[in-house]
Amino acid sequence: MPLARPIVFGNWKMYGLRADSRARAEAVAGFVRADHGTVGIFPPFTVLREVVEVVGERPVVVGGQDCHDRPEGAFTGSISPVMLRDAGATAVIVGHSERRHGLGEDDAFIRRKAEAALAAGLLVVLCIGETEAEYLAGRRHEVLERQLEGSLPTAADGGRLVIAYEPVWAIGTGRTPTLEEIREIHGWLRQELARRRPGGSDIPLLYGGSVKPANAAGILAQPDVDGVLVGGASLDPEAFRAIYEAGDARR
Ligand code: 13P
Repeated sequence: MPLARPIVFGNWKMYGLRADSRARAEAVAGFVRADHGTVGIFPPFTVLREVVEVVGERPVVVGGQDCHDRPEGAFTGSISPVMLRDAGATAVIVGHSERRHGLGEDDAFIRRKAEAALAAGLLVVLCIGETEAEYLAGRRHEVLERQLEGSLPTAADGGRLVIAYEPVWAIGTGRTPTLEEIREIHGWLRQELARRRPGGSDIPLLYGGSVKPANAAGILAQPDVDGVLVGGASLDPEAFRAIYEAGDARR
């Protein structure tokens, strides 16, 4: 089933112990309306189960922030898509820049993770984005093309895959591309996905990188922006709520 727009996903990154994560999840589950968009939260693994329990039957997607490409094995420190499902998650982020650049994960590994997560029945949020040096050199489209070529799963469709465009230089910096740039790149991504996969134009496109209550309405109003992936502001339920409310229920 297609995800209702706007899609507002919160990546909690490596923040949250059990008590504050429970409170945060309760606050999010308390403001979500079944008739307005799709909300998801991506807590650290250690509190995933608690968040799943707090959310209960309420319409909040709960996902992992990463996964391995194998169902099980001798991979110390890793979590498999099957384990995420077993813990109650229904989604997973793969290819976040903090793993691509921070931990050296390459496109081929990210594609294998995405394929494995799809096979396990998870909704995949595949992140792509250029670094500041690549942006300044005018190489954005080339970098995104390469990331799509290398990491887009074969079976990509709009019901099970979401693409998040997150310029690395906009993450946690308070800087964002202009609305014009966001509009242009999302329009171009839509065409790229249509060209690469049957039904690819239905794959939801999120923008991520310093999304705040103050800029959310402008970003969510761009024609090919189906939602946002929020980092820092998702840790504050009131800010996250304001971002959710800023998006009109479209399409
Ligand atoms: P910030 O919203 O803190 O810039 O983080 C964005 C992000 O990385 C979401 O995955």
